Amino acid sequence: MKILRLEDLVAQGPKDQLAGKRVFIRADLNVPQDDAGHITEDTRIRASVPCIQMALQAGAAVMVTSHLGRPTEGAFKPEDSLAPVAQRLGELLGREVPLRSDWVDGVEVRPGEVVLLENCRLNKGEKKNDEALAKKMAALCDIFVHDAFGTAHRAEASTYGIAQFAPVACAGPLLAAEIDAITKALAQPKRPLVAIVAGSKVSTKLTILQALADKVDGLIVGGGIANTFMLAAGLKIGKSLAEPDLLDAAKAVMQAMKARGAEVPIPSDVVTAKAFAADAPATVKAATDVADDDLILDIGPVTAALLADKLKTAGTIVWNGPVGVFEFDAFAHGTETLARAIAASPAFSIAGGGDTLAAIAKYGIEKEVGYISTGGGAFLEVLEGKTLPAFEILARRAAQS
Ligand code: 3PG
Repeated sequence: MKILRLEDLVAQGPKDQLAGKRVFIRADLNVPQDDAGHITEDTRIRASVPCIQMALQAGAAVMVTSHLGRPTEGAFKPEDSLAPVAQRLGELLGREVPLRSDWVDGVEVRPGEVVLLENCRLNKGEKKNDEALAKKMAALCDIFVHDAFGTAHRAEASTYGIAQFAPVACAGPLLAAEIDAITKALAQPKRPLVAIVAGSKVSTKLTILQALADKVDGLIVGGGIANTFMLAAGLKIGKSLAEPDLLDAAKAVMQAMKARGAEVPIPSDVVTAKAFAADAPATVKAATDVADDDLILDIGPVTAALLADKLKTAGTIVWNGPVGVFEFDAFAHGTETLARAIAASPAFSIAGGGDTLAAIAKYGIEKEVGYISTGGGAFLEVLEGKTLPAFEILARRAAQS
């Protein structure tokens, strides 16, 4: 997919191409906060810094905005404010980042300066991609930079409409890096391509499983999803979480894979407990021995070792979801084994999703994973095989230029 990148404008154009230009960056600074409003995890803010620095160093007048949460449009509440984000961004940039409210009709910012524009979802018409709002935002800038991969699956006024109407629309370095990593993993993967899709419900990831069944050489399922696949394979799962009404869907995925000579490995051993609790005694048993009152909370060591071997010889690995209840140490072995196998594998790996990132952090393998996506829902939609609105509009604008 050919899109214009901010790097291209900086590197290939006349040296002062961005100098004095008004650059509007849509970032995804939607970070978790505690009840007192303190930011508890700032990855997305840190990931947005290179784009802002690139524009500042090129001498642009820089405006940055993001959504925070899902506020009611037109009804400001203090907890919806990007003020804590402005503060953290200022610390990371080593300069003050003023926060501007009511900015749609005009923003004062000088070349070499950066301002943060208050939560864009407070503007009426943002969510519905109102054309008049998008045109006003587009009129604020010479260059629109989409750098919000986490919001790339939304067609809103500050992500999509503005990209239609701004004089120039391009991808920032974060969005570009995500596109490159996704392309490397899914469009031109080095084979074998192995995907790990885990989570509590098949229903929430069925379209992903179906889309990946056409692409991957191995599909490792985990969590409640694996339980449903075990049921589909004729195994008993006791009182484990599963969706019996999706057995046919699970069978169809397995058959589609088998028809291509690919596979969905079914666990041969599991770790069970009688209750869902951190201190519940854990029992390792064969998958054929699961009792009626058992809960499967992890894959067993034999299965984990087998899957780890597959990961070590993979060419590409896509990871979404821990395979067990890794938050409880007694049921973390499977996820840890796979995490360490991914870290040790020469394969290009891409990982995304909140729980996956928490597992990566728990085992300290950030540096060994090829690419860690900042997207939650956006990453899942990519795995579903969808073309995200951000990529579609930027490609269209690039084709028009
Ligand atoms: C996210 O947290 O996944 C993104 O910021 C998108 O947020 P949204 O689901 O509220 O659009």
